[in-house]
Amino acid sequence: MENIISLRNLKVEFNGTRVLRGIDLDVFRGESLVIVGSSGCGKSVLLKTILKLLRVDEGEILLFGKDTGRMSDREMMGIRSRIGMVFQNSALLDSLTVWENVGFYYLYHTDYTEAKIKGMAVDILKSVGMENVEDLLPEQLSGGMKKRVSVARALISKPEVLFYDEPTTGLDPITAESITNLIKDIHRRLGTTDITVTHDVRLASRISDRIALVEAGRIEDIGTFEELKKKSQNPIIRSFVDGGANNEER
Ligand SMILES: Nc1ncnc2c1ncn2[C@@H]1O[C@H](COP(=O)(O)OP(=O)(O)OP(=O)(O)O)[C@@H](O)[C@H]1O
Ligand SMILES: [Mg+2]
Repeated sequence: MENIISLRNLKVEFNGTRVLRGIDLDVFRGESLVIVGSSGCGKSVLLKTILKLLRVDEGEILLFGKDTGRMSDREMMGIRSRIGMVFQNSALLDSLTVWENVGFYYLYHTDYTEAKIKGMAVDILKSVGMENVEDLLPEQLSGGMKKRVSVARALISKPEVLFYDEPTTGLDPITAESITNLIKDIHRRLGTTDITVTHDVRLASRISDRIALVEAGRIEDIGTFEELKKKSQNPIIRSFVDGGANNEER
């Protein structure tokens, strides 16, 4: 199996407070890894650190087999475009329209014409079930629509890897289910490697090939749904494996 992401003894601290205390993790091509852990344990920090949006204090991050520690900014930009991130709370820019948000990278980092970028944005929006919204502002969208726009923005560079940070948090159950279906559909259709951080037991049970638990800044437990169901004693893991969707639904 090809290793897409390898983390070795990854440590991150803020003002002397250690958040990540030695994360070791391998993510394989095509899998869907779900990351769980209590609030504030460093799940969002972990995703941002992999993208080098936060500073690494110690350890190694290998992306697509390359050590990012020795990469130039330019090389890292290239790597980043192969990984799409759907941020917690969607993180859309209020003053930009939907299509400008989706096409943001191309508007500011390429010399493509606006018409071309808008066309790309409209196409990718359609692929996530959003039509005739390109000229709206984020404030005119519901929570579920914002999430889809945020997914479209992550998809526009045709990434091989997708990070979803709490994609269903704050949504009503029906909208959460539709976002779950969207994530599953993208994974099947595009064959992406996914890492999803979530507290949503149902989402985790429907999309995960493996589940990893972050606790005290380390990966405390990792395995397939069935493996963890058999062997894990951890209460957080137990709540996921005992409460999830049944096999037919997965
Ligand atoms: N840029 C930053 N500067 C300083 N501290 C930060 C920064 N980002 C995160 N932290 C701290 O790191 C810790 C982990 O935060 P993080 O957002 O990763 O938690 P989380 O596991 O994603 O929680 P939640 O499930 O609530 O989203 C918290 O104590 C947070 O305050
Ligand atoms: Mg978080």
